[in-house]
Amino acid sequence: MCGTPRLAQQGERVVLAGWVNHRRDHGGLTFIDLRDHTGVVQLTFNPEVAPEAKLVADRCRLEWVLRVEGQVAPRPEGSDNPNLATGEVEVRVELCEVLAQAEAMPLSTADEALADERVRLQYRYLDLRRPRMQRNLRARHRFVKALRDVGDQLGFVEIETPTMVPSTPEGARDFLIPSRLWPGHVWALPQSPQLYKQLSMVGGFDRYMQIARCWRDEDLRADRQFEFTQLDLEMSFVDEEDVFSVLEAMVSFAWESAFETKVPIPWPRIPFADAMARFGSDKPDTRFGHELSDVSAVFAGSSFRVFRQALEEGGAVVALRVPGGGDLTRGELEGAWLEVARTYGAAGLAYAWLREGGYEGGIAKFIAEEEAGRLTAALSAAPGDLVVFTAGHRRVAQTAMGAVRLHAARRFGWIPEGRFDFLWVTEFPLFELDPLTGRVSPMHHPFTQPHPDDWGLLASAPEKVRSRAYDIVCNGVELGSGSLRITDPQQQSAIFSALGFSLEEARTKFGFLLEAFRYGPPPHGGFAAGIDRMVMVGVGESSIREVIAFPKTQTGGDPMTGSPTPVAPEQLEEVGLQLSPKAPRPSAGG
Ligand code: AMO
Repeated sequence: MCGTPRLAQQGERVVLAGWVNHRRDHGGLTFIDLRDHTGVVQLTFNPEVAPEAKLVADRCRLEWVLRVEGQVAPRPEGSDNPNLATGEVEVRVELCEVLAQAEAMPLSTADEALADERVRLQYRYLDLRRPRMQRNLRARHRFVKALRDVGDQLGFVEIETPTMVPSTPEGARDFLIPSRLWPGHVWALPQSPQLYKQLSMVGGFDRYMQIARCWRDEDLRADRQFEFTQLDLEMSFVDEEDVFSVLEAMVSFAWESAFETKVPIPWPRIPFADAMARFGSDKPDTRFGHELSDVSAVFAGSSFRVFRQALEEGGAVVALRVPGGGDLTRGELEGAWLEVARTYGAAGLAYAWLREGGYEGGIAKFIAEEEAGRLTAALSAAPGDLVVFTAGHRRVAQTAMGAVRLHAARRFGWIPEGRFDFLWVTEFPLFELDPLTGRVSPMHHPFTQPHPDDWGLLASAPEKVRSRAYDIVCNGVELGSGSLRITDPQQQSAIFSALGFSLEEARTKFGFLLEAFRYGPPPHGGFAAGIDRMVMVGVGESSIREVIAFPKTQTGGDPMTGSPTPVAPEQLEEVGLQLSPKAPRPSAGG
């Protein structure tokens, strides 16, 4: 392989094949850097040693594919390249064969010359030649292999569940497949194997696992694709502790195998309510402190209308102390910072600087002296700090300030590099309440067990019921979710009715699962971790597209294949479909 020749092999004859990474002519000799996924080696073509090979080399262009035979030799004095693993040697070529030519490249395969993403995805097969993509996808391979190995050791059985299924309950939009044999009927692509893995429990496979492809028709982001892969697990006769210890063992083992970093276990646990209060997020980035403070008590009698009104309405005032923020300008605070808070639902962002003489600027004039003292004490603030606030509905204020905290962290460089801070977020609420309609929907999915202490609140205050659902979070990214499941039919019908499903509707949607639970379902629970997200974090990328071989663009197309594509009328007719003629995008696949 191109990355392997070393000084110890001096005099050995080698055969190498790879791509022309670089060519230069110097002092009558031709030098080619030949590349494969293991690295680069310098080939030397000397007209006096191998005139024919030298002629071939002189015709070569970037990315041609060559096969050469030659001898490993030390590089001439002073021409070592310490940046290359093969940097002390060269291969003196005797025979050179061109296996394939390449036209002028539409993008560079060098890591440092990153093309526009659309171009990268249009020529993804060339983009994949870049060392970074090679590294990422090979790390992904090692990660998945290690998960399978450790899963096997822990007694998990990999079961393939179908990918043509009835609609599944993860709450996103389904991709539908029209049925030709059953006109007017559809299959869905699974959003997850959730129901099948629960049925495997009923089937007596007490430890199920699958590296499962899932599909969700949602708007794409850096951490979301239409199709993605889960490490999907389900276990019988377990409680949270069993699920936690299995996941910690699997992920830490695979992390070390793939990314060569030790992940200490067990991971800290933070109940959802604390994560929201301290970090303003259910996926807190705990690599740095700078936690939020609820300063509602300080402003209980505030003369500042915005704070007073929020508190009167049962809301909260949430603050963040920004050390070193004394130099931030009003323009920046009322520009980028306010924008961040607004994006997350806050009506505004209040601020004041703490100077030697007390609070100044922004809302300082509304902070009474006695409030100032208590605020400074509550935040442990010091002169030179900036304090930013949001007031409003507690969850909204927390979320907005959570986003401001991350913005401040990037602005002031609070986030340390090279750390993986894993944690469990536990005790998620069972339901999400839509403030407009008053309707509740499952926060995880409708088969999640409620927290036993809160069951009594189901009728009176469903939004206060905690669940036995948990997430794994690392560096501010939600890596996976799971829960203990309901197997008690009465509890399940109470949940369905809280969700506004009639028993009839529930039977139509999930009847097969409810039916199965009539025949001795073992208590069970499980988890699904996003492989794409875990590999993204593990290799230090900021988008899952960097760890997926052939992803879709952010706008949901594939410029390489030009899809999605229009479809021939005959093909539609066969499956009994009529597409409404919406205006096509200027270029599909963009
Ligand atoms: P959930 O819906 O939380 O749970 O998904 C689990 C994990 O899958 C990953 N993920 C995604 N990754 C990339 N693109 C997407 N569009 C996408 N959507 C989800 C995330 C997420 O944490 N069946 C339940 C699990 C269970 O209860 O066992 C489920 O799928 O990393």
